[in-house]
Amino acid sequence: MSKIKLGVIFGGMSTENEVSVASATSILNNLDREKYEIYPIYIGKDGIWYEYEEMGEKREFGQSVKQDKKIPDVMQYLKNLDVLFPVLHGLYGEDGTIQGLFELLKVPYVGCKVLASSVGMDKVYTKIVFEKAGLEQAKYVYVRKYKDNYIYVDSQFNEKVMSLDEVAEIVQQKLKYPMFIKPSNSGSSVGINKAKNKEELEKNIEFAAQFDNKILIEEGIVGQEVECAVLGNEEVIASYVGEIRAADEFYSYDAKYKNEASKTDIPADLPEEVAEKIRKQAIKAFKAIDGKGLSRVDFFVEKDTKKVYINEINTLPGFTNISMYPKLFEASGISYKELLSKLIDLARE
Ligand SMILES: Nc1ncnc2c1ncn2[C@@H]1O[C@H](COP(=O)(O)OP(=O)(O)OP(=O)(O)O)[C@@H](O)[C@H]1O
Ligand SMILES: [Mg+2]
Repeated sequence: MSKIKLGVIFGGMSTENEVSVASATSILNNLDREKYEIYPIYIGKDGIWYEYEEMGEKREFGQSVKQDKKIPDVMQYLKNLDVLFPVLHGLYGEDGTIQGLFELLKVPYVGCKVLASSVGMDKVYTKIVFEKAGLEQAKYVYVRKYKDNYIYVDSQFNEKVMSLDEVAEIVQQKLKYPMFIKPSNSGSSVGINKAKNKEELEKNIEFAAQFDNKILIEEGIVGQEVECAVLGNEEVIASYVGEIRAADEFYSYDAKYKNEASKTDIPADLPEEVAEKIRKQAIKAFKAIDGKGLSRVDFFVEKDTKKVYINEINTLPGFTNISMYPKLFEASGISYKELLSKLIDLARE
């Protein structure tokens, strides 16, 4: 049997380029080389695509890809491959844009299609779809930056232009402190802050607006932060539930990637019925956005009530061998290598 030509695409034009390189390094070191002929493809932050030449047995990926060849005709190059694995996080990788390119080329690819990718990337639209699915989530307000002002968008999409001060007033009427202020399109916690009073709220709205004109303000949930991995197309399975113990006040970019004191526990310290509820909700959320292949679904479990709140869905979760997604399935009996093969099989289904 001839080998399957697999394109592994990593790097990318988002703030998560380095995270993607780390994910791809693990993937390239674990793929079954008997089964796949591997074509590593690096996208620079500037959007230039390179054919990445692997060197030696242990594939170490530095930030520099100078020695690699530019791909002159990306569309033609991709068309010659049997299946593509986008190992990209954030904008232009996880948001449906690159998935649209793969659709145009009619080449199968790992993971969610265009719609699920873009809904999952946009925090406001994720909320709207989860609401429809009856999933419990933190209360929220949606505003947009508009010239020097803001547009408050109500639950029926009625809009009203107002000043920052007026927005903060409305938000205070609707939500309790502490609040989390997030750019609607972001990842790895970039642009996200916590506010405990009006002054911080206003400052953090202005800050979030630098990353996206769509801004989500949410009521903070006090409790455990837990994650569940899902895998499948029509028949979807859910992993054990894992727990994040952030070293910072919340799971910020630094806490995620720089602070060694951030810990993960598998399984999470939860009553079995709560974990089971989370697994069911993870599958429901994945189906609600029309997910395919894989996703990691994140939740909060409120300290006093043990009530489950869904936070978000990540359609291309971190994939280093210490990342939550592969670790959750490893604990559930599917090795990293097997997981990669399953994802590629699902793409080719
Ligand atoms: N409503 C909330 N209540 C309590 N903590 C929150 C809330 N929203 C966000 N946080 C904290 O902020 C962190 C980042 O928020 P969120 O997960 O929405 O952002 P992200 O950038 O999408 O992260 P990811 O890399 O997982 O996509 C969370 O992991 C959590 O620690
Ligand atoms: Mg998150």
